[in-house]
Amino acid sequence: MADRRLSHRGSYGLDTPYLLVLPLLLVVVLALQGALTGAPWPFVGAAVVIVCTGFGLYASTRGKFEVWAELLDQLQLRGDEEILDLGCGRGAVLLSAAQHLTSGRAVGVDLWRRRDQSGNALAQTRRNAASEGVADKVELITGDIVDLPFASSSFDRVLSSLVLHNLSNRGQRRALAEAVRVLRPGGRLLLVDLGAVGRYGRPLRDLGMRDVMVRNLGWRMWWTGPWLATRFVSGVKCDEVDSTS
Ligand SMILES: C[S@@+](CC[C@H](N)C(=O)[O-])C[C@H]1O[C@@H](n2cnc3c(N)ncnc32)[C@H](O)[C@@H]1O
Repeated sequence: MADRRLSHRGSYGLDTPYLLVLPLLLVVVLALQGALTGAPWPFVGAAVVIVCTGFGLYASTRGKFEVWAELLDQLQLRGDEEILDLGCGRGAVLLSAAQHLTSGRAVGVDLWRRRDQSGNALAQTRRNAASEGVADKVELITGDIVDLPFASSSFDRVLSSLVLHNLSNRGQRRALAEAVRVLRPGGRLLLVDLGAVGRYGRPLRDLGMRDVMVRNLGWRMWWTGPWLATRFVSGVKCDEVDSTS
């Protein structure tokens, strides 16, 4: 497990890279203020901003990989599953999942938005799949997760990492409905996201998911601090759900 989580060979960029500009500007302003006034508090403020930014950078470059390696291990995949990753980006989760497969297939859907992840592009994810040695198990599709181009009950697992918060409330409800629709009965959904992930629980139950649970993923996925933590919600699709609706 340790090797898989820390030794990826692809290049995965930074999540929401534009958000780095603000703390960098703040540090420069505070440092200048400290230098000009001789007061200590601007330097203290700059140090706090640097620590908070460090948490975000850690989450994006290491924490996310470590946490997902554990979550994927806990899924206890057999290797023959069909897995869908909603908003796969450069493939941090998709390609880790593919490494658990033998005869199975890992499909990633994305709109490749660069404001959500630096250098985001289908070609980059394809290169990463080759670097990780899983290109033969991975399929990449350009599409919107609120309107998935797949038949109902197509996948054994549906995953998503840090995507749903980008959508409006209506978009989130549609994405959840689509995720459940394409999941096979008995299949597991695992969504990792920022903010009030608990609010996905009720719609998921209404859509026919059972064993729905929400868990905080801890400091490794703090985006600046505990006030911007990451949680997962997971559940299993009930057998009797009418997935054609
Ligand atoms: C912060 S990145 C996370 C990428 C990847 N899941 C990871 O954890 O590294 C968010 C991703 O969601 C994608 N995305 C945002 N809205 C989307 C939508 N409506 N349909 C498909 N992809 C979307 C973006 O293009 C981006 O790749």
